Amino acid sequence: MVKIDLKFVEGLTLEERASLVSGKDFWFTAKVPGVDRMMMSDGPSGLRKQDIDVAPSDVNNSVDAVCFPSSALTASSFDDDMLFKLGHHLGVAANAEKLGLLLGPGVNIKRSPLAGRNFEYFSEDPLLAGRMGTAYVKGVQEEGVGVSVKHFAANNREDQRFTSSSNIDERTLREIYLAQFERIVKEAHPATLMCSYNRLNGTLNSQNQRLLTEILRNEWGFEGLVMSDWGAVADHVAAIKAGLDLEMPGKGQASVDEIVAAVKDGRLQESTLNRSALRILKVVEKWGKDVTKKESYDKEEQHEFARKMADDSIVLLKNDDQQLPLNDHDSLAIIGELAAKPRFEGGGSSHVNAHHVVTPLDAAPANASYAAGYSLSETKPDEKLTEEAVQLAKQSNRVIFFAGFPEQMETEGFDKKTISLPANQNELLDQVVSVNPNVTVVLENGSVVEMSWADRVPAIVETYLAGEAVGEATWDILTGKVNPSGKLSESFPLRLQDNPTYGTFGKDHDEEDYREGIFVGYRYYDLHDMPVRFPFGHGLSYTTFDYSDLQVNEGSDNVEVSFTVTNSGTVAGKEVTQLYVANHVSRVAMPVKELRDFAKVELQPGESKEVSLTLSRRAFSYYNVKKQQWEADNGEYELMVGSSSRDIRLSTKFELTIGVNPLGEITDDTYIGDVWNDQDPQVQSALKESGLYDVLKPMMADEQWGAISANMPLRSLAATGVEEETREKFMKLVK
Ligand code: BGC
Repeated sequence: MVKIDLKFVEGLTLEERASLVSGKDFWFTAKVPGVDRMMMSDGPSGLRKQDIDVAPSDVNNSVDAVCFPSSALTASSFDDDMLFKLGHHLGVAANAEKLGLLLGPGVNIKRSPLAGRNFEYFSEDPLLAGRMGTAYVKGVQEEGVGVSVKHFAANNREDQRFTSSSNIDERTLREIYLAQFERIVKEAHPATLMCSYNRLNGTLNSQNQRLLTEILRNEWGFEGLVMSDWGAVADHVAAIKAGLDLEMPGKGQASVDEIVAAVKDGRLQESTLNRSALRILKVVEKWGKDVTKKESYDKEEQHEFARKMADDSIVLLKNDDQQLPLNDHDSLAIIGELAAKPRFEGGGSSHVNAHHVVTPLDAAPANASYAAGYSLSETKPDEKLTEEAVQLAKQSNRVIFFAGFPEQMETEGFDKKTISLPANQNELLDQVVSVNPNVTVVLENGSVVEMSWADRVPAIVETYLAGEAVGEATWDILTGKVNPSGKLSESFPLRLQDNPTYGTFGKDHDEEDYREGIFVGYRYYDLHDMPVRFPFGHGLSYTTFDYSDLQVNEGSDNVEVSFTVTNSGTVAGKEVTQLYVANHVSRVAMPVKELRDFAKVELQPGESKEVSLTLSRRAFSYYNVKKQQWEADNGEYELMVGSSSRDIRLSTKFELTIGVNPLGEITDDTYIGDVWNDQDPQVQSALKESGLYDVLKPMMADEQWGAISANMPLRSLAATGVEEETREKFMKLVK
């Protein structure tokens, strides 16, 4: 293999260099003398390697591959190790299929429950999305396959995704929509990032210099390659100038010609073209493989992992009176066509030609009978199907009701119109519950479901899109073979109307204004103290966990938090312990609390373990827009440890001192009240030494006059009767 450096690139003809910056076709980079082409494929939950000669873009025609659970479910594991292992298995498969790059994971934030691609994204919370993405990327890349993390950035809706502008204020952008990418870039060093279709604050992402160069490369130090989403490039020359390297899939010779012409007529500097060509060749050098040498790999082992991943992620939402786990004696009615034709994967580019699908019906125990009850291709109830199902429910001890969104309702490429189940499912459920109250609802869906019926059923199990081992994993949970340990990575509101984007999401074809700012998901519901159906971080177990002994210690550079978790029940289980931080000091709008760390702990009955977590300054920081930097303010915080965002078991107030003074520099415009309340020893002694303290004391002691004075700046002290000399003395001392 030749040595890839700038000299090599400069030795290529202009035409060859121009050919490199576009895909050769749907899945390959271009070949130039000395460097072969490299293949890439989707996707996030299993390989979608297509036969380029037969059906390059037919999503249903790809190689046989194990279909793992979709990201909506894998994130519910809250388990970095599991995500690493998922990455490992995907890496093994991609390596055997000789792929250079795997396109995924998608790490965008779930902003609206209607967004069509939520199933493919991890969470409404950037810490969780970032942690899951980091572990996944590391797992894949360790196997010698590069990852393209997508979709950079703020790709939160599908309707008009090629043109709509995500209009986001700077703080929200940094804290909510970029933070997970930043973590993955800095910690996992992905080979590439895929820039998304949409515009950000008016500029197409593929042409967004600020996003692709200033933030990604200059600030975060990204050294890899930026490729476009498929068909995202509108102006190829502008895109390369802005920092995009590879246009996918490319427009054939037309792509080459436009670059050659732009260099010739001076619109594109040769050095800029060379820069991108070099980045592409470096990626091919590191990750490229000989596509003619396919190998086999152990798909049965991968299927078992797909089952384990689903086992550890499925969320037990409700379990009144220990409806679950099931016992062997009860006769079971399995109702719902989804039991026989499960939804186990998302539609669109992440579609996998699954190796071995085991449906819930295939895996059902012997004491179960089945009735379809509804048809997935219809939304209206069918009298005959309803009657059969109701009869079966009557004759059985317990009902396992399979419900969810049919695929035609939820896929990449468009947004949903509703988050209610189809009418035939809701109505059937109503009738079934009225003849047999012992109903467990098993949900198969890519994202949040409205559950008007939730109070009428004793048990609900959320399996999302559980991958090809859906049947085995579902019964593992229902029968108690596996103790559930998944937690929701998104809030389930009572109604769609409760979501902050309701009424505005997708309404304007061109502009999507992120009016709710940083208040996304639980940050919004908590702020308004709103009831939700199931909160972020929620998930039950067949055992119980007690929390005790919260300790907090500030070090010179971070804060150590520890506590003890005890399995106080009778079966072994895993608990996702969650650490939230509430900021009571910064002078900007703040969520009630934010997830800042989590750890999954496995415990035998009666066993206790100490959990130790380390919070860096960043965990206490917000993005200070004026200073254009992250800032951790000194002062009071509250640390909360819990089993979900709404089930806080331990909390303590904590005074941070390793940050900065939130007041910043004291100037003439600083308010009297701020100075008066500032605990900084230097400010306190300046107040005393200058004599200002003695003058202000009686004023501040008076409730009304004190409140008025607090709201006046230092430059107006004279108006409160303070001598100018005293003010000047204070200003000098405090500088
Ligand atoms: C999707 C990407 C995907 C690409 C290639 C696009 O439509 O948005 O996520 O990687 O197609 O299949």
